[in-house]
Amino acid sequence: MKYIEIKAPAKINIGLSVLSKRADGYHNLSTFFYPINDLFDLLTFEPADSFIFACDSSSIPKDENNLIVKAKNILETTSGKRIDVKITLKKVIPIQAGLGGGSSDAAATLISLNEMFQLGFQHSQLINLSLQLGSDVPFFIKSKPAIGTSRGEILEYIDLEIPEPILIINPGISISTKEAFNNYFPDKNKGDFRSLIKNSGLEYSAMRVSIKNDFEKYIFEKFPKIGRIKDLLYEYGALFSLMSGSGSTVYGIFPNTDAAESAMNKFPKDYFCYLSSHHC
Ligand code: C5P
Repeated sequence: MKYIEIKAPAKINIGLSVLSKRADGYHNLSTFFYPINDLFDLLTFEPADSFIFACDSSSIPKDENNLIVKAKNILETTSGKRIDVKITLKKVIPIQAGLGGGSSDAAATLISLNEMFQLGFQHSQLINLSLQLGSDVPFFIKSKPAIGTSRGEILEYIDLEIPEPILIINPGISISTKEAFNNYFPDKNKGDFRSLIKNSGLEYSAMRVSIKNDFEKYIFEKFPKIGRIKDLLYEYGALFSLMSGSGSTVYGIFPNTDAAESAMNKFPKDYFCYLSSHHC
């Protein structure tokens, strides 16, 4: 049985509209998921006599509340096969930050264990299993730019590569996604970002007017520090800036690396700052 090492990348949301509340308690949304492939957690899978999960971070649960453990359990239940494996996680992506780190780890676990234990799940079955783990997990089965609708599991893949550097700033605040979904404000002034992204490519001046994140109002009011990051990114020359997911990360797309590096150096040293130049 082989040893697998896999990178679980981060994502940002370029626009996030909450459309309606559903009977199952979730919300229908519309968003554009964009992978940040050079910012990733690292997972390794090796054969073992029992199940072992090891992680270098003290801030994440090691029991069945961890999405990696949940992913392993769901594969065992669905396949009827026992999965004895040692999984090691090197955590790099900030936690509860709107960057999808936990969801990406879960998807990487489904993909790797399916291969390692020859479970035979096809792509559509992996998507179904991943949705049981979380609304963002299906995107990470492929981690390719995609418009996500429904809970985020209906994915329309878009051939788009952003050439500019993306500066990612996280102030170390943890946000509950559930709380954000209970307090969103649908922005009535936004345009149709689906057509904006598909037809016009990334026209940043139009994006600044039309592309919104419906969680920003509530989150910026509750944590002014997060809204301030967006103001500063624009002040420092970003072409476009938005909060990712339900926060607390805010990103800025910059015209060139010099401008992005200069902006990065101005943020407090205790913030998580990452300059991405090889996104996808
Ligand atoms: O799916 P996930 O576990 O990431 O969602 C966390 C919480 O966010 C859910 O329990 C739900 O309250 C809320 N949510 C929602 N609609 C979505 C995604 C998440 O209401 N599309």
